[in-house]
Amino acid sequence: MNNPFSLVGKTILVTGASSGIGKAIAIECSKLGACLVITGRDERRLHATWELLEGKGHVEVAGDLTMEEEVEELLNLLPELDGIVHVAGVGQSIPFPYISKEKLDSMFSVNFFAPVLLSQKMIKKRKLRKGASIVFISSIDGPVTAHIGNAIYSSTKAALTGMAKNMAVDLASKRIRVNCVLPGMVETPLIHQGSISEEQLDQDKLSYPLKRYARPEEVAYAVIYFLSDASSFTTGANLVVDGGFTLL
Ligand SMILES: NC(=O)c1ccc[n+]([C@@H]2O[C@H](COP(=O)([O-])OP(=O)(O)OC[C@H]3O[C@@H](n4cnc5c(N)ncnc54)[C@H](OP(=O)(O)O)[C@@H]3O)[C@@H](O)[C@H]2O)c1
Repeated sequence: MNNPFSLVGKTILVTGASSGIGKAIAIECSKLGACLVITGRDERRLHATWELLEGKGHVEVAGDLTMEEEVEELLNLLPELDGIVHVAGVGQSIPFPYISKEKLDSMFSVNFFAPVLLSQKMIKKRKLRKGASIVFISSIDGPVTAHIGNAIYSSTKAALTGMAKNMAVDLASKRIRVNCVLPGMVETPLIHQGSISEEQLDQDKLSYPLKRYARPEEVAYAVIYFLSDASSFTTGANLVVDGGFTLL
């Protein structure tokens, strides 16, 4: 049966695959036939994701994407790819009066420099096939909205969307597409790490027209659209997945 969303025959790298959204993306991509290379820092949790992948031939490579030697190791192990999904990211609430060069460097190094420079190294090393798709997980926060204490995080995500549009233009001649998914709040460990209480989270969910946060799989389905041939004429796009939050 013709399925334009099929990922059969595609090899895809997913970063941040040891947890949350990246884990769901890897699993859902494997269900649609992709061969995965998954990466994350925590070896035990990365292996737990690997065990949940459908099909055979998937590869796991643990590493910190801010450490140059570990990125080189990953690059050397990579086969030719049809897609990259840059999911790895960190969030920390820091009110503007408390931001510093150190804190800017720390969040930008994971959320912005690592995915951008990894993409560039892959292109230089010819690791991306013609027709490949690069997907960044940005956020509504930054490109569309703002939240108290989120100045640095929002800036990293807004920077990603700016970079993605320009990469889309620069890489079009290589037939490489570049797109961003912008989730609202998603039920993952990340949202339970900060200073926001469970009661505040429950209250916040009510501000979403759909009255809940996203499940990680619902972000994965948007990513699959960009990885698949269903989006073959879409590049430089931002796809908001937020249960209608930014409509109000
Ligand atoms: N959850 C949300 O509401 C939400 C909303 C919008 C956008 N996002 C974005 O979605 C992405 C995934 O978030 P999540 O909610 O799934 O968070 P999560 O469950 O905390 O997962 C974060 C992932 O990033 C990896 N990571 C962090 N720092 C890394 C580093 N230096 N090198 C390599 N990997 C690193 C983690 O690896 P280890 O755990 O192995 O260290 C983990 O796999 C992030 O970019 C986040 O900004 C999340």
